[in-house]
Amino acid sequence: MGKTVLAYSGGLDTTTCIAWIKEKYGNEVITVTVDVGQQEDFKEIEERAYMAGSSKHYFVDAKDEFANDYIAMAIKANAMYEGKYPLSTSLARPLIAKKVVEIALRENADSVAHGSTGKGNDQVRFDVTIRALYPQVKVIAPVREWNMSRDEELKYLISKGIPYKPSRGEFSIDENLWGRSIESGRLEDPWVEPPEEAFAWTVSPEKAPDRPEYVEIYFENGIPVSLNGDRMNLVDLIKHLNIVGGRNGVGRVDHIEDRVVGIKSREVYEVPAATILIEAHRDIEKLTLPKSILRFKGLIEEQWSYMIYDGLWADPLREALEAFINETQKHVEGSVRLKLYKGGLRVVGRKSSRSLYKNELSTYASTSTFDQKQAIGFINLFALQTLVYREVNSNA
Ligand code: ARG
Repeated sequence: MGKTVLAYSGGLDTTTCIAWIKEKYGNEVITVTVDVGQQEDFKEIEERAYMAGSSKHYFVDAKDEFANDYIAMAIKANAMYEGKYPLSTSLARPLIAKKVVEIALRENADSVAHGSTGKGNDQVRFDVTIRALYPQVKVIAPVREWNMSRDEELKYLISKGIPYKPSRGEFSIDENLWGRSIESGRLEDPWVEPPEEAFAWTVSPEKAPDRPEYVEIYFENGIPVSLNGDRMNLVDLIKHLNIVGGRNGVGRVDHIEDRVVGIKSREVYEVPAATILIEAHRDIEKLTLPKSILRFKGLIEEQWSYMIYDGLWADPLREALEAFINETQKHVEGSVRLKLYKGGLRVVGRKSSRSLYKNELSTYASTSTFDQKQAIGFINLFALQTLVYREVNSNA
């Protein structure tokens, strides 16, 4: 009898996986639930795992690791896939895979399983990371193999005598500290406006308070370390901002997204903290980094975001890009003040002891120390090739 370690979320798919792997492969199934900040009753999930036939259940609290090793880098990288999606689901997958592999190694398991479908990105993220960290292991993705609808999964569980109370409504949800992803149901028609029931973290902007709310975020080495003057760890800071952003209707995203496997899909997200923190981080970078780095870093950021989305966490290019990003963050320090109002978000102030903004240079007042006459010589050289080209080719 083989031994399989399954990444278990507690949902219908992975619950069915337990029974199915036991029947189809004749394996013992060990379940692992990784806490990356999803709001779930983990005790209940554990009970469900045993009820469905798990022989041993592990619970792993990975919130701090998720925040400090994954989200922090996404903030430093201003990571927004295709300009809109802060990669909340994408970032958690390699961490879940790592935790599951750690347990597979400890338990001497010969296979690892996950509940991703064959149409999405998550299968790529899980498969690649698991195989990178544990090359000898077999990866099983039952949902990709079995072709059952949700109703058929429920019937299958009943036939095995496993009680399962379907809790899910119309939408498919994936949730963690960095965001909530909402798919399927009515959202599959990209013309249909997301109904209010799709949202759980944010109020609709129309219902948000009529008064703006301000937040002040302090960054050190590119990482947010305090909120409104209170120093806190990254997990708490993100939780707070999800609440503050959510009650002001900030962080709703509606996006046509390109999956790794070529499919275009309509994705809806609630990402209040991510929206606020990346906007703030971009702003403090503009105050503290020179134009050379700001321009070049954009290319690195885009590449990093693609790699995370595409599930290539294990590829050495990621670490090489991060070496560059970390190098740029050494002096990214200071405060950003933002105004949240009815779904909108604006930076309205920033300050830093490492600010490159010099009032005596930029001011139009008489206190300016900038010698304007020096600009004449600069422009002569700056425009030289443009002007020579036009002169040479004026008759062409
Ligand atoms: N499209 C996102 C991604 O690939 C989120 C997928 C979320 N999954 C879900 N079950 N809703 O990262």
